[in-house]
Amino acid sequence: MAKVYVFDHPLIQHKLTYIRDKNTGTKEFRELVDEVASLMAFEITRDLPLEEVEIETPVSVSKSNVLAGKKLGIIPILRAGLGMVEGMLKLIPAAKVGHVGLYRDPETLQPVEYYVKLPSDVEERDFIVVDPMLATGGSAVEAINSLKKRGAKNIKFMCLIASPEGVEVVKDAHPDVDIYIAALDEKLNEKGYIVPGLGDAGDRLYGTK
Ligand code: PRP
Ligand code: URA
Repeated sequence: MAKVYVFDHPLIQHKLTYIRDKNTGTKEFRELVDEVASLMAFEITRDLPLEEVEIETPVSVSKSNVLAGKKLGIIPILRAGLGMVEGMLKLIPAAKVGHVGLYRDPETLQPVEYYVKLPSDVEERDFIVVDPMLATGGSAVEAINSLKKRGAKNIKFMCLIASPEGVEVVKDAHPDVDIYIAALDEKLNEKGYIVPGLGDAGDRLYGTK
């Protein structure tokens, strides 16, 4: 069964408060999302495998650890997921980035796929699908379906804010995919927005409305 991890680090929670605040403007919102994405990347990579190498310090020969070179892929769900990519790449610069383009039909709330481009060695990579919001769960489920259909085997899902309903939908559809979130909010409203949430993540990142 999928596990759900809430990253309640004080720095993440502090920055998330200003991300939620409706008085935070586009520039600051974008910077904060970037910073939180970096902090979450630090937490989500805790289980990366290490290997021992021999080095010479100025004092002696020593054995020490380096990353074993696991192949990683970051998959932002367009558009809002893009706001988290640079922050993650600051910590894991060798990761490749694929894209899944989805928008949520405002009437049906169902995800509509319009673009998919993944690294060519999809079967060998471990993927982190990123999107600031997990609301009804439709977009996350569809993005993960899209990856699996193309051969991805090991997938994590990471977002800033999730609704309890969305978490259940993703867990049911993809019990093999662990979910990493900065906050689990109260509920969805009648328009499928997360309460209290942060509003429309794409609009706040890019200044559209
Ligand atoms: C938002 C958000 C998620 C999706 C979450 O994107 O970034 O992708 O909604 O909702 P769900 O869990 O109910 O599917 P949106 O469809 O507004 O597109 P955008 O990123 O292009 O603004
Ligand atoms: N998409 C968003 O950007 N915000 C929500 O609250 C729900 C879906």
